[in-house]
Amino acid sequence: MLKVNNIKKSFDNNLILDGINLYVDKGEFVSILGVSGSGKTTIFNIIAGLIKPDGGNIYVNGKDITGKTGIIGYMQQNDLLLPWKNIYDNVTLPLTIKGEKKANARKIAGKYMPLFGLEGYGEKYPKELSGGMRQRAALLRTYLFSGEIMLLDEPFAKLDAITKRKLQNWLSGVVKKMNITTLLVTHDVEEAILLSDRIYIISDKPATIKREFTVSENAKNLGSAEFYELQKSILNTL
Ligand SMILES: Nc1ncnc2c1ncn2[C@@H]1O[C@H](COP(=O)(O)OP(=O)(O)OP(=O)(O)O)[C@@H](O)[C@H]1O
Ligand SMILES: [Mg+2]
Repeated sequence: MLKVNNIKKSFDNNLILDGINLYVDKGEFVSILGVSGSGKTTIFNIIAGLIKPDGGNIYVNGKDITGKTGIIGYMQQNDLLLPWKNIYDNVTLPLTIKGEKKANARKIAGKYMPLFGLEGYGEKYPKELSGGMRQRAALLRTYLFSGEIMLLDEPFAKLDAITKRKLQNWLSGVVKKMNITTLLVTHDVEEAILLSDRIYIISDKPATIKREFTVSENAKNLGSAEFYELQKSILNTL
C-alpha cells in the first residue's frame, strides 16, 4: 500500500537520509525505530508531502505521490488540538476542510467517539480533557483525515508510563478492528514490539535502514522469552 523508494535528503549540505527503502502492506502495523535526531520525523514529513526529498519517490497503491499533501493522515510529534475549538470541532477539522457540512462531519465523528473513549466529550475543550484523552482525540482527527493509512510520530512519548501502556493496548485493538494501515515512529523499543507486525531499525545520521524485524505474536507477550530475545537483538542493532 505504501512504498518508500530510495529517499535521500540533506539539510544545508548535511546528509540526513541516505536512501531509505521501506514498505507497508494493507492492514499492517509497521514501526521505524531509531535514536533521537536520526531523521525519523524527516522521513514522515517527506511521506506526508510536507517536504520534498532530494531523490527517491513515495508510492501509495502504486501511484507516485511524492511531494503531495492531503493523501496520508499524519499525527505530528507535537500534535496540538486547537485550544479555542471544542473536541467535535477539533476532530472534524479534516472533514470540514474537505468541504463536509459541520452537522454531517459531527455525525461521522460521533460514530467513532465511543471507540476512541470520547463519548460525551464532544462539547468539551482540550484543557478539560486528560493528556491521554487529548492524544485519543488527536488520533481520531488523524484517522478522519484519511481512513486508509496513518503516520504516527511518537504519539505517546509525553504520557506517563501507565497511561502510555493503556493507550498502546487500546490502539493495538482499534487498528486491528478497523484494519487501519499504520506507520509509527518511536524510540521506545518496548512500544515498537507491542504494537508492530514489523520493525525497521534506522541508523543514526545519515539514516539508512539497518535491519528489519518481524514480530511474532509470542514476542508481544511482555516477559516471554521471545520478547526478551527480540528486545536484545533490537538493542544490539540500535
Ligand atoms: N527543516 C530542517 N532544516 C534543517 N535541519 C533539519 C530540518 N529538519 C530536521 N533537520 C535536522 O535533521 C536531523 C534529523 O531530524 P529529525 O527531526 O528527523 O530527527 P528525529 O529522528 O525525528 O529525532 P527525535 O527522535 O528527537 O524526534 C536533525 O539533525 C535535525 O537538526
Ligand atoms: Mg522526531
